[in-house]
Amino acid sequence: MAEYATEHLRVLLRNSIIQRRIRYMGKQMSRDFRGERLHLIGVLKGASIFLADLIRQISLEVSLDFMAVSSYGARTESSGQVRLTKDLDTSIEGLNVILVEDILDTGLTLDYLQRVLLQRKPKSFHIAALLDKRQRRVKNVKADYIGFEIPDEFVVGFGLDYAERYRNLKDVCVLSQKES
Ligand code: IMP
Ligand code: MG
Repeated sequence: MAEYATEHLRVLLRNSIIQRRIRYMGKQMSRDFRGERLHLIGVLKGASIFLADLIRQISLEVSLDFMAVSSYGARTESSGQVRLTKDLDTSIEGLNVILVEDILDTGLTLDYLQRVLLQRKPKSFHIAALLDKRQRRVKNVKADYIGFEIPDEFVVGFGLDYAERYRNLKDVCVLSQKES
């Protein structure tokens, strides 16, 4: 896909590698929750691509819901202020919930969502993140299912955006600004 004139893309994770990892994660979940029903909650919009591939690798009864959050502040930094902009459609009481996120960065978003969801008495609660930038963590949140640990670089593609662009890239790429 064409880059914008001032931006440069470098492939970090190829689509084939991502798909192989998602297959493995789906198998893990199917094994961990054998005989049970799973309720996946995707965090819009970034996690939608990951979630779409993940659910098709789970061989259990699965239901879906979505939440959306916005965080105030600069575009490539979380500000720490998280606000719920779309809540769930249905109750999660008594359900095996897996919260599905594109990337775990500072942890502020997932820390907030975890606190909100745990109050609603799910039967179990777990977190799945496609990417994990562990070096950046400021909140003590742990994902139970992690696709890839990545270095502290800004990435786009496979659902992740920069100012709403690049979500449709098949690979996860590092985005950098060209010197001018
Ligand atoms: P956290 O609250 O700092 O963990 O940030 C999580 C959110 O920040 C993710 O859901 C993404 O929307 C966004 N984010 C963090 N790092 C990146 C990145 O490298 N590329 C694109 N979005 C990112
Ligand atoms: Mg996001």
